[in-house]
Formats: sequence, C-alpha cells, structure tokens
Amino acid sequence: MTFADHYQALIQKVRTSRKYRALQLPDSTLRDLLEGEDAKSTSLADLEDRFRSKLHNLVAPYLENIDYQAEMRFLTKNADSFFSNINQEKRWAESLMRRHASSRERLPYLDEFYATIWEAAGTPTSILDLACAIDPLGLPWMNLPPEATYFAYDIHLPRVNFLNKYFELAHPNAHAVQQDILLNPPSQQADLAFFLKEAHRLEKRQPGILSDFFTSIPAKQLVVSLPETDLSGHHHLDHYHRSLIFDAIQDKDWQLTERQVGDELLFFIKKTA
Ligand SMILES: C[S@@+](CC[C@H](N)C(=O)[O-])C[C@H]1O[C@@H](n2cnc3c(N)ncnc32)[C@H](O)[C@@H]1O
Repeated sequence: MTFADHYQALIQKVRTSRKYRALQLPDSTLRDLLEGEDAKSTSLADLEDRFRSKLHNLVAPYLENIDYQAEMRFLTKNADSFFSNINQEKRWAESLMRRHASSRERLPYLDEFYATIWEAAGTPTSILDLACAIDPLGLPWMNLPPEATYFAYDIHLPRVNFLNKYFELAHPNAHAVQQDILLNPPSQQADLAFFLKEAHRLEKRQPGILSDFFTSIPAKQLVVSLPETDLSGHHHLDHYHRSLIFDAIQDKDWQLTERQVGDELLFFIKKTA
C-alpha cells in the first residue's frame, strides 16, 4: 500500500464512521487535517490518533441534537402560516439556538448584539457569515434592509442544507454554502464578514494563521467575536483572546475597535479607510 492509499483509507474510515458519516465533511478539510498531522506522527497508528483528535476538536464540541431533516419537513409543511409572523419565526429559531452552545450563550442579548454591531460597523447590505453554525437563525433579530445579501459558510452539510431550506422559505437573499473557509476563502465580496466565536479555534487548527486568514476574506470590514470565558465559564480568556487579534493585525494598516455584549468580545477590523 502506498502512502496515498493509506491517506485515502484513513479518510474513508472516518467518513463512514458512526460519529462522522452524517456530517459529510469536505474531502479537502479531512485531507488538510491529515497532512497537518503527518509530519508530527511517528507511525500510521499515531497518525490516525492525531488525525481523529484534530477532527474531534474541530467538529465535536459544536455538535448539537437538532434533527435537521425533521426541521426541514416542519418548515416545508408550515411555511405559509409560519413566516408571515415574525414572533412565531423568532420562537422557533430560539428553540433551535438553545440547543447549540455558541448560539445559546447569545440568546439573552440578541437584540443588543446586532444593534451594537450595526452601530459600530454601519448597517451592511452584504454579509459573509464564516463558520456560521446556526448563527443565521439570528436573521429575524438583525433587521437588515430587505435587499441585503447574506452568504453563510460551514463544513457541516446537514446544517448547510437545513439553512438553505430556511432561507428559501423566509430569507430569499440568503444562501448557505458548504465550504472550508480556511482552505477556500469565499470569493463573494461583502461589506461585512462575521467571524463569530471561531478565531481561537482556527488558531488551534493552524497556529499563526489568523493574519493571513483575515487578509483572505473579501470584506471591507470583519467582526470577529471571541468568548470572554471558556465553555465551562470558569476560565477568563479575555487577555489571551485580545492578544490573538492584536498579533494578527499588528503589521496591517487596519483600524481596530472593540465592544462587548454579554460574554462576547467584539473586534471590529476595518480594512479600508
Ligand atoms: C463555534 S461554532 C461557530 C459558531 C457561530 N459562528 C456562532 O457564533 O454561533 C463552529 C462552527 O464552525 C464550523 N467550522 C469550523 N471550521 C470551519 C471551516 N474551516 N470552514 C467552515 N466552517 C467551519 C463548524 O462546523 C461549526 O458549525
């Protein structure tokens, strides 16, 4: 067996495993994680362990128990009555956001969260939502102008398909795309890119990458958010998270401003004057 065959066999093993098969992760993501661990590993068994651990860190902390197929059926059946009433849409979106760690933490502050972003960044007419998870379910709180476009990116295919069903019925200017934004940054230009609660994890995936990653995003402004504490709520991370952002933009001619809503530190990075 050649090394390329071993790679392919490991990818296939993970792809068909009970833990990951439903997610249909992009081949490029799996290959990148595997290649990244290859140089550090001492044997094929060690490579497999490292690969699985890296993949677990990337995906597992944010797997929730939403049945996306059932939600899509529910939406299709109830679309007519459902999306004519914003309060009903909000109640449904809230019930799903409650099940996903990073959205749940934001629920008590949703109105304030988006109002603060628009106040600091201006109200955008085009948004990229990078590593979105179910963040786009916040659309009913965003109060965007009707012509605003919204492109959301995630590697988790069932989430992306579900978001597209929701968008088709309720927000026709929004689109979800299965894409690894580190390996294939969006080509879509936008006023503003959200990169919410993921920069510290991207840094873990590939240390030192944030500066190049921010450069690669075709938006005039980035809103990067990071949690003030860890998922358990016990450890303060604000100092470490601030330095991640400062280090990433230190040699750029970009403007940085900061806000905080709830536990979320918001960094506004303006690329253009
Ligand atoms: C911490 S959650 C992000 C939460 C969301 N931005 C929010 O604030 O509610 C992580 C999400 O990012 C996605 N993700 C991680 N790395 C990614 C990548 N390189 N490209 C696209 N999506 C990614 C995961 O599939 C998961 O849905």
